[in-house]
Amino acid sequence: MTGTPSAPLRMREMLYGALLSRALCTAAVMGVPDALAEGPRGVADLAAELDAVPDALGQLLRTLTAFEVFERLPDGTYALTPLGAALRTDAHATAYPTALLVDGVMGASWTALATTVRTGRPGFEDVHGMSLFDYLDRHPAVRETFDHSQAADLQLSLEHIRSAVGPVGSTVVDVGGGDGTLLAHLLAGAPDARGVLLDTQATTVRAKEVLAAAGLEERSRVVAGDFFEAVPGDGDLYLLREILHDWNDSQCVTVLGACRRAMRPGTRLLIIERVAADDEGAAGTSRMTALMDLYMLSVLRGQERSLGDYDRLLSASGFVRTSVSRMPGHVVAIEAAPDPGGSPG
Ligand SMILES: C[S@@+](CC[C@H](N)C(=O)[O-])C[C@H]1O[C@@H](n2cnc3c(N)ncnc32)[C@H](O)[C@@H]1O
Repeated sequence: MTGTPSAPLRMREMLYGALLSRALCTAAVMGVPDALAEGPRGVADLAAELDAVPDALGQLLRTLTAFEVFERLPDGTYALTPLGAALRTDAHATAYPTALLVDGVMGASWTALATTVRTGRPGFEDVHGMSLFDYLDRHPAVRETFDHSQAADLQLSLEHIRSAVGPVGSTVVDVGGGDGTLLAHLLAGAPDARGVLLDTQATTVRAKEVLAAAGLEERSRVVAGDFFEAVPGDGDLYLLREILHDWNDSQCVTVLGACRRAMRPGTRLLIIERVAADDEGAAGTSRMTALMDLYMLSVLRGQERSLGDYDRLLSASGFVRTSVSRMPGHVVAIEAAPDPGGSPG
């Protein structure tokens, strides 16, 4: 029988989506995609290498084959499909660190979603006893996985970000710049520019290493600080990539206000975020953006927003939107300039 499954059947498939996510995380954590990197292999051979029970591993592979992650060949061996290859640790824009986060601290916080919806408290704090960024500061190995996941995600839109950024001017300031991957890429393409990265104390240690490894020690400055308090001055371009979706509206106005106070007339602000649909004709909120909206609620009580929402935040903090560039995955670069008549909130 073919055709669209009935609503009761579709509902069951969606409910079992949690099991599909577990299966993908299990395959990734066990190293199945990497073990198939050189070509197809039999289940017994894989099970011996990965310390698994052959029958049980066979069922995992069989299930994920139904979801086009693996392919079963006529001789009974299994191969990676292009979809499954996205979980290889060495894949372009690898999804492997995302699997580790879903398997670990982030996925755990979703188990408290009902409490989050009832109380508004991020499940992350209920489950882990502290905020996400405090947790990352105290758990360097998880922070490394988080940074790796951010950097892998960046590979999906890097070229588009570069073209949205255009000329960076003489100084680019990456506000909440994480481990420095984006700043390193932008400075590599602008040999005369300097860069400043602002992030938490623990994160700046790693950012210094990343920028030094890219040969950018001389052209970059890494500042430990709090973007709710102040943002470094003297920038021509200020970047906020995946910062605002972590916070509520009044916190966003505080961060934007700190940027606005640091910025001179004629300088640029670039916000890079996923956008939800709004009344300006965006083609519907994508499922990925909808899921990220709940993800942000669960981990930080953040949210995804529409272009209209960003316009309101910009105007409340003394900016005017000057342009929007759309990128794959419903990601946009929203460019704004200080509004001479506006105030920084
Ligand atoms: C979602 S990550 C985005 C990182 C980076 N912009 C990127 O695109 O990969 C948010 C960043 O904000 C930093 N952060 C959180 N609170 C901060 C604060 N109060 N002041 C400065 N940085 C902060 C975190 O350490 C983290 O690196």
